[in-house]
Amino acid sequence: DALWCVLPAAGKGVRAGGDRPKQYQLIDGRPMLDHTLERLSAHPRIAGFMVVIAADDRHFGAMDSIGGKPLKTAIGGGERSDSVLAGLMALPASVGDNDFVLVHDAARPCVRLDDITRLIERAGPVGGGLLGAPLRDTLKRADAECHSVATEPREGRWRAFTPQMFRRSDLMRALRLAAEAGIVPGDEAMAMERAGASPLLVEGSEDNIKVTTPADFALAEFLLRRTR
Ligand code: CTP
Ligand code: MG
Repeated sequence: DALWCVLPAAGKGVRAGGDRPKQYQLIDGRPMLDHTLERLSAHPRIAGFMVVIAADDRHFGAMDSIGGKPLKTAIGGGERSDSVLAGLMALPASVGDNDFVLVHDAARPCVRLDDITRLIERAGPVGGGLLGAPLRDTLKRADAECHSVATEPREGRWRAFTPQMFRRSDLMRALRLAAEAGIVPGDEAMAMERAGASPLLVEGSEDNIKVTTPADFALAEFLLRRTR
């Protein structure tokens, strides 16, 4: 079955700087969000897109499809998790409660399609999961003055990427539970963990960077060209 993809794109991109939110800054002459959408639209298992934009967005170029797949928009909230919940609520009636949905950051244009395929194949049978990668570097605990005070085990520690894939109603319930508890989950998996689930970590390419700081744009351009 084909899945819808919710793309949170309602952030301000404070850390990236620039004259507009990072998802609209140009990479190779085109807005980052266009790259992300174009790449995802080429995946045969993705059926449509719910792009979540800010209420005061001035940069989203009106479109109602990409690559022949429907594209809808919803208005996001103050935190990423609010934006994701708004997107899930706005999905078309054709998306059932038990259907899996993908959530993918607009700020991750370099995601690789074969990683998405593996996520779907491996996480679907176990109720959901996410792309990620085991930590490569030695992990330090720092004090307030940036002195290293301890070295923590790297084993069993992963970085979390997107897409993250869960059943629509499971994820909506988990996000609402977190909100009611006054907790802002950093990603979908955190909300699901709090709700008692153990999402499957599926190792994906380190190419799948989240463009966060000014230097990341040049890296994203390189990675996009390399895997085009
Ligand atoms: N996002 C969102 N709604 C928010 C905050 C973030 O839809 N209220 C989206 C961003 O647009 C981005 C993704 O979530 O695609 C990942 O968030 P992040 O990298 O933190 O982006 P920003 O919040 O925009 O950046 P910053 O934290 O530097 O301001
Ligand atoms: Mg943010």
